[in-house]
Amino acid sequence: MRTALAYHSTGISEKQRLAFEKDVLEGLQEVPRRLHSKYFYDATGDALFQQIMHCPEYYLTRCEMEILRGQAGQIVQSLQQHAPVFDLVELGAGDASKSFYLLKELLRVGAMDTYFPIDISRNIIAQLQQSLPAKLPGLTVQGLNGEYMDMLQAARQITGRPKLVMFMGSSIGNFTPAEALQFCTRLRQQLQPGDLLMIGFDLRKNPQTILDAYNDKAGITRAFNLNLLERINRELDGDFDLSQFTHFPTYDPLTGACRSFLVSLKEQAVHIAGKTVRFAANEPLFMEISQKYTVEEINELGSRSGFKPAEMFYDSKRWFTDVLWQCR
Ligand code: AVJ
Repeated sequence: MRTALAYHSTGISEKQRLAFEKDVLEGLQEVPRRLHSKYFYDATGDALFQQIMHCPEYYLTRCEMEILRGQAGQIVQSLQQHAPVFDLVELGAGDASKSFYLLKELLRVGAMDTYFPIDISRNIIAQLQQSLPAKLPGLTVQGLNGEYMDMLQAARQITGRPKLVMFMGSSIGNFTPAEALQFCTRLRQQLQPGDLLMIGFDLRKNPQTILDAYNDKAGITRAFNLNLLERINRELDGDFDLSQFTHFPTYDPLTGACRSFLVSLKEQAVHIAGKTVRFAANEPLFMEISQKYTVEEINELGSRSGFKPAEMFYDSKRWFTDVLWQCR
C-alpha cells in the first residue's frame, strides 16, 4: 500500500521512469558499480538536501550565500562592465535562494531583463513562476523545464539579448574534471562572444573539513545516499535491503576528489525491474563525486573550454568561489 502511494507522489513521467531504469541497470553492470547522483533528487531527496544545507558541517551553502549577499554590488558592477543589460539563465535554479540577492541588485540597477530559471523538476519551475514575482516586483520570470543545453537554446530563441548563465552551488563538482571540461565546452558552444558564465566552485581546504561536510554527525548525508536505494525500490520495483549497505565517504587530498560509496555488508543479490544484481561482501557502490578545485585548476578549465576567466569572488575564509568567465 505504502509503495503504491509513494509511487504516485513522485509524479515522474513514464519517459523519465524508463530513463531512470535504464541508467540504474546500466550503472549497476559497470565496474565499479555506480548510480548517478542526479537521481538523488526525488521529493525526499530534495528535502534531505535542504537539511544537508543546514548541517553545521556542510559549509558550502553558507560560504556561497556570504559571497552573494555580501558582494552583490561588486558582482553586478563587474557584470555591467561586460554587458549593460542581459538576461539571466540559471542552470538548476532550485528555489533560487542563491541567486535571490543577485537578482535583487540586478533589478535595482536595471541591469537585467528576463530571468530564465532552468530545472529538470517541473514542480520547481512552477513554484518559481508563482512565488518570485511577488518577492521581486518587476521581475519577468520565464521558467524552462528540461535538459540544460536544450533549454539554453530555447532561451536564445525567446530573446536576442546577451546572456549571463549561472551554475551555482558547486553543482559542477558532481562532474569529474574531464566531464566538467566537456560540459563547459558544450556550454561555450551554446553561447556567443560577449555572453557571461558564472560558476560556483568548492575550493581545496583542510581535508578533514571537506570529509566532515560529507559525513555529518546527524547522519543526513547517509540518509541522502540511502534514499536513492529506497527510490529504486519504490519506483523500479527493487528490493535493496538498506540495512545491508553502509555509507562510506572519502576524500583524496591529492586529486581533490570527494567520493561517496555505499558498501555492501555481505554477499547479496538485489532484484530491480526483474533483473538480478549480485554484490560481493564489501563491494563498493559508487554514488557521487564532489570535486574540489584549486584556483589554478579553475582558470585552466575556463581557458581550455573557450572562456576568458574575468573575476573571482570569495567568502571570507576563501573556502568557496563564484567565478565570472567571459566568452572569447
Ligand atoms: C548539490 C552537488 C553541490 O556535492 O556538495 C551534498 C550534493 N551531496 N552532500 C555536493 C551533496 C552530499 C552537493 N551538490
